[in-house]
Amino acid sequence: MLRSKLLLAASVALAFAVWGVMVQSSRSQPPAAPVTEVHPPADQSYVGYKACMACHLKQTMAWKKTKHFTEAFAKLPAKYQADPSCLACHSTGYGAATGYKDASTETLAGTTCEACHGPASAHVAAAKPFISAKPTPEQTEKIKGTIYKVMPNNVCIRCHADQGHKAHPAYDK
Ligand code: HEC
Ligand code: HEC
Ligand code: HEC
Ligand code: HEC
Repeated sequence: MLRSKLLLAASVALAFAVWGVMVQSSRSQPPAAPVTEVHPPADQSYVGYKACMACHLKQTMAWKKTKHFTEAFAKLPAKYQADPSCLACHSTGYGAATGYKDASTETLAGTTCEACHGPASAHVAAAKPFISAKPTPEQTEKIKGTIYKVMPNNVCIRCHADQGHKAHPAYDK
């Protein structure tokens, strides 16, 4: 009897201790990562916008009319077109192994599909068998599960710094 009371007391004390530690650690957690960091799935590679057109013609044509395609890279003054501090926002996946590098990766210049949807190699691989055959509803759900409808962590604000109350970096016009 005494023993079980002791056990009960001990486990209550333990529960409070654990709760205390949890509260403590949630308070002492480091501040959220700065918005300039983005964490797309590490095991996928960037493939460029031309790999999407065959299946998503409508979205591709609509995107080609936006400044994300027409200006985000092209408007960089020449002396900045290889500047890492600008390419972080004016190209797609800059700094990642398969992201934008230079003219050889021009299908990633500017704000391309994968800047908002994340690197899409796994999605393209999963969807490929259905280029001519229509996927069933279950297969469609599976394919959707291989890509972000839109990347998390306020992906727009990562680049649109002014929306996060920060000024655009200064540059020579
Ligand atoms: C071989 C065909 C194919 C290719 C290539 C392809 N997709 Fe898809 N994609 C699909 C299918 C099928 C679906 C599911 C049905 C739908 O939403 O249209 C889909 C869905 C999506 C969705 C919606 C996901 C959701 O949760 O609703 C996005 C975003 C997307 N694709 C982006 C891309 C991007 C970006 C590329 C190029 C890098 C690409 N896709 C290439 C076939 C393809
Ligand atoms: C944090 C992301 C970010 C960085 C870093 C960045 N830009 Fe931008 N830049 C943007 C966005 C977003 C826009 C679109 C307009 C806006 O919201 O200010 C833009 C717009 C521009 C424009 C078009 C302005 C206009 O009047 O149409 C130029 C030119 C430009 N940036 C040059 C640069 C240069 C040069 C650098 C590097 C020194 C740079 N940017 C770094 C995000 C960035
Ligand atoms: C600036 C960010 C951005 C870019 C760039 C972008 N998308 Fe999207 N896309 C979105 C958002 C946000 C949605 C989700 C809309 C919603 O929730 O209804 C979306 C939705 C989609 C969908 C789902 C179906 C639909 O139309 O809603 C497909 C497919 C897609 N995008 C493909 C593409 C392709 C292909 C490209 C490049 C040619 C592209 N996107 C470029 C932001 C972007
Ligand atoms: C990888 C960086 C990046 C991401 C992510 C991004 N953008 Fe942009 N966006 C830009 C740049 C750079 C421009 C500037 C194009 C120019 O005017 O030179 C721009 C331009 C725009 C414009 C046109 C502004 C104008 O003055 O006409 C709109 C609207 C916009 N973005 C909305 C969005 C939305 C909404 C999202 C998220 C769904 C998003 N962007 C995600 C970089 C980005």
